[in-house]
Amino acid sequence: MKLQGELTRTIWIDPRDPHTVHTFDQRLFPFQVVAEPLRTVEDAAIAIEEMHVRGAPLIGATAAYGLYLAALAAPEGDEGAAFLEQSAARLRRTRPTAIDLFYCIQRVMDALAVAPPNRSSRIATALEAANLIANESAEQCRMIGVHGLPIIEALSAKKQGKTVNILTHCNAGWLACIDYGTATSPIYAAFDKGIDVHVWVDETRPRNQGGKITAFELLEHGVPHTIITDNAGGHLMQHGLVDMVIVGTDRTTRKGDVANKIGTYLKALAAKDNGVPFYVALPSSTLDLSIRDGVKEIPIEQRSEEEVKYVWGWKDGAIEKVLTTPEHSPAGNYGFDVTPARLVTGLITERGICAASEAGILGLFPELDHV
Ligand code: MRU
Repeated sequence: MKLQGELTRTIWIDPRDPHTVHTFDQRLFPFQVVAEPLRTVEDAAIAIEEMHVRGAPLIGATAAYGLYLAALAAPEGDEGAAFLEQSAARLRRTRPTAIDLFYCIQRVMDALAVAPPNRSSRIATALEAANLIANESAEQCRMIGVHGLPIIEALSAKKQGKTVNILTHCNAGWLACIDYGTATSPIYAAFDKGIDVHVWVDETRPRNQGGKITAFELLEHGVPHTIITDNAGGHLMQHGLVDMVIVGTDRTTRKGDVANKIGTYLKALAAKDNGVPFYVALPSSTLDLSIRDGVKEIPIEQRSEEEVKYVWGWKDGAIEKVLTTPEHSPAGNYGFDVTPARLVTGLITERGICAASEAGILGLFPELDHV
């Protein structure tokens, strides 16, 4: 991705201090672009928990680098192994819904389990595993763009070159990933190829990841877009103003049910009712084939009521927090919902597009069947 003209990823090792990992504090976007140093596993855990970093692939990669930071602090021998186990447990408690978190932690712990039991080997192993996860994730997102592009090309051809209007929810862009994004990757690929695209950006209450982060990304890249309120999508679809929906996901089950940011399900229902194709873009790190029924089995994060009752905005050069509800009214804050597979037109993955079904997923990822 290009940030202020520079090629940048969302997480990196400090070139002058290899004991420090950097990421962006996403709470400050779009008003300020500030790199945040992570020096301990607790820094990484807090960054995930408090959503300085967010988005399934970036949450996973941050946890992986968190284990590298843990390895740097771990003592020798059995005590070091116990410290790493405790660190993994701490990271697992940060957020419940995105499966990438658990997948990435397990990958690093599996690598550590077969590493020689001394400090320097553990440090090198954890760093190598975290770098591999980040590089693989970026490449998976690039390939999602390669496979998703023909869908947009076909819509453009059907419309004889007229603008293809794409609706997206939340932020499944490069800031949610290591690079490219998931839902946005085909959009960037189409835009870069000269296809006339326009993106309807759902604001995505309560934290406004769409209005703040997706809009920031699209603006940086020059992609035409319009921010809309979360409830506008159905109206736009009824009036033929949406040609397709692409969203990301935090966890996709064996039968193709998809958990994503709260409000995604309602967009899928509106899309079905209006014959609008509804695609979900995901790297295979987001598949959870150990469960089938997303509605019953995917843990849905509930966050503080503060996020619903207040908004955070920019005034006079600083971020301000403003109460928007009666102070003493209680509020519910469900972070995600599940879109059943029957509402999903297709899954766009790094290996191609498949049906949101067990057969479709296993057709592309047969090696995951053992889970
Ligand atoms: O709560 P967040 O901001 O971490 O939720 C992010 C989303 O729901 C994204 O749409 C999803 O993680 C896909 S990210 C490529």
